[in-house]
Amino acid sequence: MSGHGSGKVILLGEHAVVHGVPAIAAGLEAGAVARVVDGEAELRIAPWGVLVRAGDASPLGAAFAALLEARRRDAIDGVRANEHALEAHVTLPGSAGLGSSAALGVAVLRALDEIDGISRDFDRSQAIALAWERVFHGNPSGIDTALALSGGLARYLRNPPPGEPALRPITGARTLSLVVAHSGAPGSTKETVAGVALRKTADPQAFERTLAAFREVVAMGEAALARGDLGALGACFDRCQSLLAGWGVSTPTLDAMCACAKEAGALGAKLTGGGGGGCMIALAEASDRARVREALASRGHEAFETTIGPARPENTERA
Ligand code: MEV
Repeated sequence: MSGHGSGKVILLGEHAVVHGVPAIAAGLEAGAVARVVDGEAELRIAPWGVLVRAGDASPLGAAFAALLEARRRDAIDGVRANEHALEAHVTLPGSAGLGSSAALGVAVLRALDEIDGISRDFDRSQAIALAWERVFHGNPSGIDTALALSGGLARYLRNPPPGEPALRPITGARTLSLVVAHSGAPGSTKETVAGVALRKTADPQAFERTLAAFREVVAMGEAALARGDLGALGACFDRCQSLLAGWGVSTPTLDAMCACAKEAGALGAKLTGGGGGGCMIALAEASDRARVREALASRGHEAFETTIGPARPENTERA
């Protein structure tokens, strides 16, 4: 009895999505897998050698307790949500902007639901996964847990108008060839999200102008995806990066990595996720992608290639 949660890369609109602007993201095949084992409510992350109990003093223990509590409250058709021991494997680096905590929460939820014979729709699963994610990220928009649940390429909007879904799959016209590279420093999404919120308080009008610019770049990016215009999409990556840098969530290393990727032939490059460290992504023509990865790797950055396909968007591969 096991469950899977996808990692993700945000293509456009991170941070602005917390404040009600749509964002575009893609699921990664890498993520987390959890399976139920014998024992009481405890969670073992096998490769890290970590064992937590629901409600112990650790953030993971608190997140596990929050998820179990949310499951208990979301009683379905009188089916009892039981508590079990789980063992999980996470195949993504943590604090990297790739959604490892959301992937883990979703994997745990799915493994528990599977053994209890519970089938939930997206909204209910999302609400429970968010209870977990809030422990780590304070004020998450829900994009990470949504992509952990769905995989694929999608547009996400926090608090959509009634009748509209938060997550809308996108069928791009072209395959996207991406390089994902790690800056080598961890990033704290909780801290960078709090830093952006301070900017809103300090200068609400400037903040609104930046949100409008994000809104525009995400709409342009969505149109570029629909037309299969990789050059225009790359320009949206660059614009998004400069807006994020203006909010103080990039770092000199991430800026240098974006410049390096562009010099090596990328069509666009930007940080992905919370920033303050973590990963960046570069969009390239398929024929240039290996060169971009090698350029980043030659500067000591762990990098992998991934493909977001038009027909089966969740189709990603490790290089
Ligand atoms: C983190 O992957 C994305 C952020 O926009 C935070 C969030 O949406 O919760 C930085």
